[in-house]
Amino acid sequence: MEMDKLVSLCKRRGFLFQSSEIYGGLNGFWDYGPMGVELKRNVKESWWRDMITSHDDLNVLPGAPEVFQMVGLDCSIIMHPQVWKCSGHYDLFHDFMVDCKETKKRYRHDQLVGRWITAKGKKVFVTVLPETDHPEKEIEARAMKFFGLRAKQADQLEVDGPVIPLPQIKDHELVLGPDAKTPGTLTPPREFNLMFKTIVGAMGGEEDTTFLRPETAQGIFVNFKNVVDSSRVRVPFGIGQIGKSFRNEITPRNFTFRSREFEQMEIEFFCHPSESAQWYRYWRDRRYNWYLSLGLSRDKLRLREHEAAELAHYSCGTADIEYAFPFLPPGEFGELEGVAHRADFDLRSHMEGKLVKQGGELVVETGPDGKPKYRGSGKDLRFFDDVKKEKYLPHVIEPSAGADRATLAFLCAAYREDTAPDEHGKPQERVYLALHPRLAPIKAAILPLVNKDGMPELAQKLYLRLKREFNVFYDDGGAVGRRYRRMDEVGTPFCFTIDGQSLQDYTVTIRDRDTLQQRRLHLDTVADELRRLLQPTEG
Ligand code: GAP
Repeated sequence: MEMDKLVSLCKRRGFLFQSSEIYGGLNGFWDYGPMGVELKRNVKESWWRDMITSHDDLNVLPGAPEVFQMVGLDCSIIMHPQVWKCSGHYDLFHDFMVDCKETKKRYRHDQLVGRWITAKGKKVFVTVLPETDHPEKEIEARAMKFFGLRAKQADQLEVDGPVIPLPQIKDHELVLGPDAKTPGTLTPPREFNLMFKTIVGAMGGEEDTTFLRPETAQGIFVNFKNVVDSSRVRVPFGIGQIGKSFRNEITPRNFTFRSREFEQMEIEFFCHPSESAQWYRYWRDRRYNWYLSLGLSRDKLRLREHEAAELAHYSCGTADIEYAFPFLPPGEFGELEGVAHRADFDLRSHMEGKLVKQGGELVVETGPDGKPKYRGSGKDLRFFDDVKKEKYLPHVIEPSAGADRATLAFLCAAYREDTAPDEHGKPQERVYLALHPRLAPIKAAILPLVNKDGMPELAQKLYLRLKREFNVFYDDGGAVGRRYRRMDEVGTPFCFTIDGQSLQDYTVTIRDRDTLQQRRLHLDTVADELRRLLQPTEG
């Protein structure tokens, strides 16, 4: 699937618009249109239902070590600045960027790739952005232009070694930036904190500066004690939250994949340290299966365990759930969700102060005066197990998903083109979204075959009855084939058509978007049938 086609459908049919488009847009920010808002809400509601409200806390679920509880939370976006100091975000949540002095463009240092090329007695490291399908070809084309060679002189280029990331290169003066005409225009890499700063209150001093949260997780950690004290949860249990997060990404790109404002769906699962490895495996597999249950295919979805060197210092396991997004080069995958074993790092940090690793141990980081660099809350965040009479800091397993990335993956996976016969039996090209019925923005369309003979009246009656429970759409404009196609394009899984026979025997046809098959149903059973068709499926 070509990404351009999906992007154009999203704009044409009201899924996604560039933010502030009439003013030229704002890079890294997106608006969901009438179809997009329904789709994304369905993604979030499926997550909330499947993880939180419909969770079975009476039985041991397959793969789980024991029975557990799940509750929800909705924290503020702006929090006390100390939260971000103790969590490590204030000191450590940064990327390295390089600026091009010639083009004034800014890049993430680790995102540029390039290759050494020699011609006419000169050697340069030619860089490109990595999302290109064929970096080798693009590098060659840039090198030809740089050295002033024509197509038939391509054999004058001497390629030295494979395409490698820019951070491996030391000779900056020999690097040709991705949009530059001369080498040596990229600055050395500099740290850039990704948190958006904001001022709280009217005084506006440095002490009033805080941040838009870059993740929802910290709101859960700092409320751990509140939740334990106010609800009847016992470890093991999980707290889930869905909400906006903000990151001042250096190079937002790939549609909504890397945005500056996005939504996360995060669970912090608290368990006894002795069981944490088992819970980690449980959540990793359960979250992978969730995406399958909503329509992503196994051949495009993978679970990638991080190498030991990739793990955060406190973690004894992290896996990314990754999807083969169509904007990535063949064989490459992009992160949909991270499932991390975070041990007691977060609760300890908020209790004692910002932690650092010293001699293999996590200790409170101290400043030049020997006092904690960032003081914790001092509150006792340990859990008291009144059955075992044990007090301990729970370990945390964190399945952290992006609502926008999941929505984008479901859209990419759903995009289809085929041919389908119109009402005269003539094959017509068709573009449709094979979204899972739970995710589809509109669940069903109600269509009178013609606009006369009592059909609109009967169709409207059915429409108003269904609308109380489902997001359905009434359409009486144009040939029925065209109306089907309009519904297919926004992923509506079912169409109910009222025809001449409906007036005789009170039945309607139900048409399936994917198989195009039609069958008849009694009008009184339509709501039950639609409810049945919208049930979750096993992953
Ligand atoms: N609390 C852990 C955490 O935030 P993360 O891997 O940085 O972990 C989790 O983010 C998820 O949030 C990612 O897997 C992705 O789905 C989503 N996400 C992160 N940055 C994003 C961005 N700039 N745009 C869209 N989604 C993003």
